Formats: sequence, C-alpha cells, structure tokens
Amino acid sequence: MTTRARPVVAIDGPAGAGKSTCALRLAQALGFVLVDTGALYRGVALSAQERGLEWTDGPALGEHTRTLDLRFETGVDGAPLLFVDGVDRSGDIRTQEIARGASTVSKHPEVRAALLGLQRRLGEDGGVVLEGRDIGTVVFPDAEVKVFLTAGVEVRGKRRYDELRARGQDADLAKIVSEIAERDAQDAGRAVAPLRPADDAIVLDSSALQLERVVEQLVALVRQRSGG
Ligand code: DC
Repeated sequence: MTTRARPVVAIDGPAGAGKSTCALRLAQALGFVLVDTGALYRGVALSAQERGLEWTDGPALGEHTRTLDLRFETGVDGAPLLFVDGVDRSGDIRTQEIARGASTVSKHPEVRAALLGLQRRLGEDGGVVLEGRDIGTVVFPDAEVKVFLTAGVEVRGKRRYDELRARGQDADLAKIVSEIAERDAQDAGRAVAPLRPADDAIVLDSSALQLERVVEQLVALVRQRSGG
C-alpha cells in the first residue's frame, strides 16, 4: 500500500497521441508537477551524439546516462524545460533525429535502469503527472491513475506535423507518418519495458476527440479516483 497524500498519474501511449498536451493541461488543472520522461531519453540521445557515442552501444550509453545531470524546470508557459548538465536543451531535443535517437537508446536495459531511479524520485511524493511509455507498467506500477492514450497513426502524424509547422520547422506529413509507425514498432517491439497498456490502465483513443475533451475526461477521472 502507498501512503501518498496526492496521486501519481501515469499517462502512457505512442508518439503523437496527445500525451504532452494533455499531460500539461491536466497537471495545470490539478496543480500537479509534470514529468516528461521522454525528454530524459531525448536528453540521453542528444548528449550521447555530442560525445560521439553510438546510439547502439548499450553499455557505453548506460555509463554515460549514469554520469549525466538531468533536471526539469518550469518554463514561462508552464511547460517543462529539460536541463542537461546545467544547460537548457529543451529546444534541441525536439527534432525528428533526436526522436529517433531517443527511441533507439531507450531499447537498452542499461539506459532504462539508469533513468529508473530518477523517474521514481521525481514522482514519489505524488501530486504528479508522469508521461511516457512504461510509467504504469514499470516506473509506477502502483500509480493511482493509469491512462493509456492512443490514436490512429494518421491522426498522430497530422498532429506532429501541425506542431512542427507551428514552431516554424519544415515538415513532410507522409515522412512523419512513416517515422511514427517505425518508432511505434520499435517502442512496442523492444524486449525491455515495451510500450503496452498496463492491465489496469484506462485506454483512451483520442482519434476522434479534441484534446480539450480528453483533458476534461482526465481531470474528471483523477478527481473521481482521489475522492475529490
Ligand atoms: O515521448 P517522446 O516522443 O518524447 O519519447 C521519445 C522516445 O523515448 C520514445 O520513442 C521511446 C522512449 N521512451 C521510453 O522508452 N520510455 C518512456 N517512459 C518515455 C519515452
């Protein structure tokens, strides 16, 4: 039994399902801390690349991850900023290349093990929304609320495309859809902590829903589960 005064909310799901947007709005609505665990894997991929490490070298990446200083701060818009060794890398981790790298480094058990303690420390006091791939299955199997947020691959590709365009980046919709499908296969097919809903997760398909509606459902769900 846990003794947390406020719940841990786990939001897992594939790339582009709306997790980041929904997790941020949910955290803001509840006054909870948001932990974007994908940003940690992205920070590992980016810093490894800059040090000339191969994304395929599990033992070296595990060693590298253990020495990294990864921290979150809250940006002016409330979104989390990722600091790697004291430097804000939030913008640099949001490229398609680093997304691919994060998916590749996250296959290694050494990397997952090196990030596990940090994720647990960030969430242990409750009052937190953690978003990722294995929060409800591995990081917080005892989370009070577990949601698996998903959507069709075309819808997710279009959302990612709109996001990149809104940030002024070039984007090719067909390429994004195929990269997301490839990343899904890699994340769901890996041997350690594969992407899958926890047995006790609520599965929400956001394909035909505005993300605002999803946030409303999530807020209601957390309030109901925490008796308030
Ligand atoms: O959510 P994201 O796109 O920022 O995640 C980047 C990659 O990190 C994703 O393809 C798989 C990996 N990841 C993971 O393995 N476990 C998590 N809890 C979060 C992300």
